[in-house]
Amino acid sequence: MDKGNPPVENWLNLDEIEELATKTVSKKAWAYYYSASDDKISKRINTEAFRSIQLRPKVFVDCTRCDLSTNLLGNPVSIPIYVSPAAMARLGHPAGEAGIAEACRSFGAMQIISNVASMTPEQIVAGATEGQVFGWQLYVQADRTKSERMLARIHKPKAIKFIALTLDSPVSGKREDDQRHGNVNNSMTASSSEDGGYEHSENDSGKLLNLTDDEVFVGMDPTLTWSETLAWLAKHTTLPIVLKGVQTHEDAYIATKYRDQVKGIILSNHGGRSLDTAPPAVHTLLEIRKYCPEVFDCLDVWVDGGIKRGTDVVKALCLGARGVGIGRAALWGLGAGGVAGVKRTLEILSEETKTCMRLLGVEHVRDLGPQHINTRLLERQIYDGPAALDRDQIHSRSRL
Ligand SMILES: Cc1cc2nc3c(=O)[nH]c(=O)nc-3n(C[C@H](O)[C@H](O)[C@H](O)COP(=O)(O)O)c2cc1C
Repeated sequence: MDKGNPPVENWLNLDEIEELATKTVSKKAWAYYYSASDDKISKRINTEAFRSIQLRPKVFVDCTRCDLSTNLLGNPVSIPIYVSPAAMARLGHPAGEAGIAEACRSFGAMQIISNVASMTPEQIVAGATEGQVFGWQLYVQADRTKSERMLARIHKPKAIKFIALTLDSPVSGKREDDQRHGNVNNSMTASSSEDGGYEHSENDSGKLLNLTDDEVFVGMDPTLTWSETLAWLAKHTTLPIVLKGVQTHEDAYIATKYRDQVKGIILSNHGGRSLDTAPPAVHTLLEIRKYCPEVFDCLDVWVDGGIKRGTDVVKALCLGARGVGIGRAALWGLGAGGVAGVKRTLEILSEETKTCMRLLGVEHVRDLGPQHINTRLLERQIYDGPAALDRDQIHSRSRL
């Protein structure tokens, strides 16, 4: 699948890897990975927002050493970069999500397994080493018994440390690239969501099914709410919950009210695949800093969307994120070069992150802070939003 591409060690950056993958994977896989909703504005500004932040290097500092290790939900990891949940990795390369897991293993990186992965969670974590960290992402099904059975199943592998509950896609965004190229928006293995996913997912054959987004989203429960869904989830798992798809400071603040159960939030617009013109994670980080900075003390805040460079990773960390996710970049790496391609992707991003930290004069991830960035340009562009809601108002809304 990766025949004809230059040796991985010659790949220089993530855009170059995307170009190689574009030439390597099928048109259908390309369209599924590349696409975003409507005019792809959120997808574009996810990356642009990082670029409009400037760095503030401190000079005359010994920068011999640089240590990327940190912890995510208290789990030690070697790098703050993790792989976001993404469906259908085997569409791009037969190594699939297990191949991504192998690459993560060699970098001490965390991986979140999609509810609609193209391999079973058991297959994906099969080679996990002591200390390798996985999360499992949940799309709650209208037939809750399916999700309940899936939760029971993912409690078994010790490597799965938390549930990431995705909230930003109760219905599918309109993704025209998918529609244009083969009119197939989602294919998945039957195995991934056996018991917990979709109607069509009933065996472990590993055969790729072709489903339209409409079909995939048929099983999804659009009725989720703070009070009902978290209470239901509490009956079926004691694993920590991370809410994926938070896009406003108000919702970040509400999440702190559920911190007995909710231990983290992921600021994400689903890589621009859900609501077009929804804000990039960086905007939400800035909002949280302004209106409710205590969120950073109560919860792990992670971000994803548009990460292309180590400088993007560092900027997110400076703004208070503990973890920084990559979605498409891992899929492009896999598509362009299988496991070696994902390793190269993680290597490039880690090396760029280290270079950036050293040039900033920072040795440890924990020492990065707002003093290392200038966000004035970005803040001018951001809609300032309505005055922050009164705390009680926010909380009472969450009971609706
Ligand atoms: C092809 C593809 C499939 C995805 N599938 C899922 C999914 O199953 N569950 C989920 O929560 N997010 C899913 N996402 C969103 C990612 O988890 C992540 O939020 C997004 O890709 C980050 O943006 P980036 O691709 O620019 O890094 C998917 C994204 C892509 C590109």
